[in-house]
This record gives sequence, structure tokens and C-alpha cells, in this order.
Amino acid sequence: GITRHYTFNVRMTKVTRLCGSKSIPTVNGQFPGPKLVAREGDRLVVKVHNHINYNVSFHWHGLRQLRNGWADGPSYITQCPIQPGKSYTYDFTVAGQRGTLWWHAHFSWLRVHLYGPLLILPSRSEGYPFQSPHKEVPIMFGEWFKADTETVINQALQTGAGPNVSDAYTFNGLPGPTYNCSSKDTYKLKVQPGRTYMLRLINAALNNELFFAIANHTLTVVEADANYVKPFTATTLVISPGQTMNVLLTASTNPASRAFAMAVAPYTNTQGTFDNTTATAVLEYYALTRPTSAGTLPLPALPRYNDTNAVANFTGNFRSLATAQYPARVPRAVDRHVLFTVGLGTDPCPPNRTCQGSNGTKFAASVNNISFVRPRAALLDAHYRRRYAGVLMANFPTTPPHPFNYTGTAPNNTFVAHGTRVVPLAFNTSVELVMQGTAIQGAESHPLHMHGFNFFVLAQGFGNYDPVNDPTKYNLADPVERNTVSVPTAGWVAVRFLADNPGVWLMHCHFDVHLSWGLSMAWMVDDGPLPNQKMLPPPSDLPKC
Ligand code: C2O
Repeated sequence: GITRHYTFNVRMTKVTRLCGSKSIPTVNGQFPGPKLVAREGDRLVVKVHNHINYNVSFHWHGLRQLRNGWADGPSYITQCPIQPGKSYTYDFTVAGQRGTLWWHAHFSWLRVHLYGPLLILPSRSEGYPFQSPHKEVPIMFGEWFKADTETVINQALQTGAGPNVSDAYTFNGLPGPTYNCSSKDTYKLKVQPGRTYMLRLINAALNNELFFAIANHTLTVVEADANYVKPFTATTLVISPGQTMNVLLTASTNPASRAFAMAVAPYTNTQGTFDNTTATAVLEYYALTRPTSAGTLPLPALPRYNDTNAVANFTGNFRSLATAQYPARVPRAVDRHVLFTVGLGTDPCPPNRTCQGSNGTKFAASVNNISFVRPRAALLDAHYRRRYAGVLMANFPTTPPHPFNYTGTAPNNTFVAHGTRVVPLAFNTSVELVMQGTAIQGAESHPLHMHGFNFFVLAQGFGNYDPVNDPTKYNLADPVERNTVSVPTAGWVAVRFLADNPGVWLMHCHFDVHLSWGLSMAWMVDDGPLPNQKMLPPPSDLPKC
């Protein structure tokens, strides 16, 4: 591999959307941020200079960062944030991975503006396990808020709910003609009749799972979270925040029209308010003269916003390729069984505030009823030095503290406990993790993202996980391998992973509002016995808290 150098100058830039302008943090003045392209085996060196008044750090979402948590990026987990006026260089090598990933800020809610594609091409000799597309096109879905960043963040943290709901969804930062003042801000994809295109889809939205469809076109899914899957076709896709998906789109040789609408709209079961708008973009054919105006294109049919069955049907299609070249390395034996409840809960309302949770409480979120508390120093550094006192406790519960009917009536006491607690794991422990959604404060899905690892999704279902019967449904032959999985509304998902990466690795809901409320925990993996199974030493410019 080669070494590729990038520089990220983080600075405020004025951007106009939805009839208004605001100053937002950008990388190099670009929104969305620059596209990083590498090949499997390459080394990336990204020098970040922070010129804004917020702390910042960057995460390379889905990159495993083997033994090299120093480059992973979540603030207070693997590094202290890069303070205003300071710099830090992310230095990492892409090993054993190829596909569509992305990068985003990992401090507070800054990723709402600071994100971009991270594309890992397969080695030249290897190529794709399907016919090479004519062209590859990254499409990032995002959210746009009219309010300024600080207002949005503060609303979420102080009382929950409130106007922390976006005003538009976007395609590569552009909302399109369903919104006011936005016809000129429309993303357009131009295609040649008969050619095949690979869309590299990324859901960078803050708080919403999305449906995506293109009118009159069928899509073939070939990759999920930078892992090849057995190809399957679909007219509507479901993509959760944090997830990526490669799909093949073959342009018709005789299209019924010159242009077609692409659309994204939310999937949610929240009982709170949400952004219930639809964003559109245009798929336009070259070499056809029939004119079309973007505003009048018929929208593709999308499921109703809460169509949980449509989501389950789509999700059930994912299978690993599981070939000799791309085997599914599912751990066979299980060393540790872990059951996590994931969901919402409550905190007492701070004095002199009005809170919007039930009975005047404040919203909170938790894993096994522990709401994650941001430490004062970075966990990875504490682990490397084995100085844990005052930073973390290695006693995160691996079963729920009070078993209850998770998807039935909520228990009387919905208050969460608080702590910076981690699950310690010996090197190469194979973990079977069942994530159980709860119905406290309403059942909704939670896209759980794991840093440092991919996991295999063995099964998922609705209701309470049944430890006797559900394991008989596990797919151990060709389960999909991902880094983000949506725990279904009032349901569960079972995954397995091998703890072969020493370091401290965050796992959290990829809805930023739930992450802020504490739906997060970390795994702390020990070094292995061999020299190449130990954490690398920290870089000399690692930021201090
Ligand atoms: Cu893309 Cu910790 O997240």
C-alpha cells in the first residue's frame, strides 16, 4: 500500500439552505466534507487543525483500527478532544477491509455538519465479486437544522424533546425541491442508458432511520457496512444512521421519462416529534432530450413512516457472501454470553427547569440501566497505563439488573443509574451479545454501532428475547457482518464478535440524541500474549484533556 496525506482545516463557513444562512463548522470550507479514497492496505495520515471555538475529534466509522485505538477518535474514549487552536494527526493503515465507510466528528453533535465519505477500494488484483460498475457515486443522507448548532445541542441536552428536530433531510447536503427555496439545492445524478452504477449510500443523519427509493428503478444490494453480501434486489431500502450500503443501479435502455425522483423519508416509531419531511433528488438520463422540471417528478412509493414490517422484511434479506475468498468467520464457540437492554429511561429534572419526559422528568437513555457518563480523561489512555482510578470502573453489568417484561408495560421506576463503566474482555474472547430493546418511554428502534469490531448478526425478532427457543433460529452459516445494527422496535438482535482488537471500544446508539442521553458503553480488551497482539504506543501529539 501507499501513504495518502490529507489535511483537515476545521473552520466556520457560511452555508445557505432552506431560505437562510448560518455559519457551520466545515472541513476545508466544504459541506459535506471532502471524500477520502484509499485502497486496501494503504496508510492514511490525516492532519487536523481545529480553528473553531468547539472541541472536536474525528472518527473513521467502520475502520477497525487494529491495535491502534489512538486513531479511532471518539472524544474522551480513545482521545481527549482537539481543543480550539490545537492539532492532531490521525495515522492509520487500512488492513483487511474494503468498501464504503465514512468519517465524522465525534464530539457532542458536531457530526451534523462534519462528515464525509471514506471509500476503501479493493486491491487492483482483487476487484469486486460482481461486474465492475461503469461509475461509483457516493450519496450521503443527512439532516439540516435551521437553528444554529448550539441551540440544537442545548435543547437536546437540557430537557430532551423540544425543537431538536431537523427541518430537512439532504442528499449530499442538498434538500431538493420539496422544501422552500431549495430547487437550486437539488442533488442530480446523471446516467447513461444501459450502464450500471454503484451507489455508495451512507446514512449520516443524526437521529433518523431512512427509507430510500428511486421511482421506476430496482436496486441490487451488494454490500453492507463494507462487507459484501449475497446480492438481492429491492425497490425500497432501509438504512440506519451509521450504516452504509452499496447498491447497483442499472439505467434503463428505454426509460419512460428523462428524469426520475429519488426520495428519502424517515422510518420511526417514536412517540415524540420527528422530522416527517421527504427529501428528493434527481436521476437524469443523458442523451434524451425530453425536458423535465425537478419539482414535478412523481415520487417513488415509500412505506408509511412507521411500517415496521416493511423494515423487518428488508432487513431479513442480508446474508454474508460466505465464499472461499470472502468467508464468514463466525465464532463457533462462545466464551461470554452478554444480554444488554437498550432503551430510554428518565432522570430527575434539574431545579428551575421544565422537562419533557414523563411526569416532568428529563429523558435519559441507558444500556442495562446504566446511563453512560463522560469521563474526565480518555479511557484508552487509562487502559494503556493501567491507571483506572477516578476514570472508569471495569464492572459494567452483562445482564440486566432487574429482569422485567422488556417490551410490555414499563416498570414503575424508570430512573436510570449513572456511571463510566466498561466490560473488560480477555484478548480473543468470543462474545455473544443479545441486545434487547425496551418499551420504557415508548418502544423504538436503536441503531447500535460498535467501534473496533464488526459483528455477525445471527438473528433478530420482536418481543422479548427467548433464551431457550431463539438460539435455534441463529444463522451461523452466512450471517451478515456489520458495524451497525438496528435493534428493532420492541424487539431484539443477537450478534457475535471476537475480541481480537486490544483497546477501549465504544458501543452506542447512532442516534445522537440517544447517545447524548447515555445510550452508550465501552468494551475494554486486553493485549494478547504475542507482540503483534498488543496495543501500539500512543502518538506523541495525542491531545491532553
Ligand atoms: Cu459513527 Cu461512535 O460513531
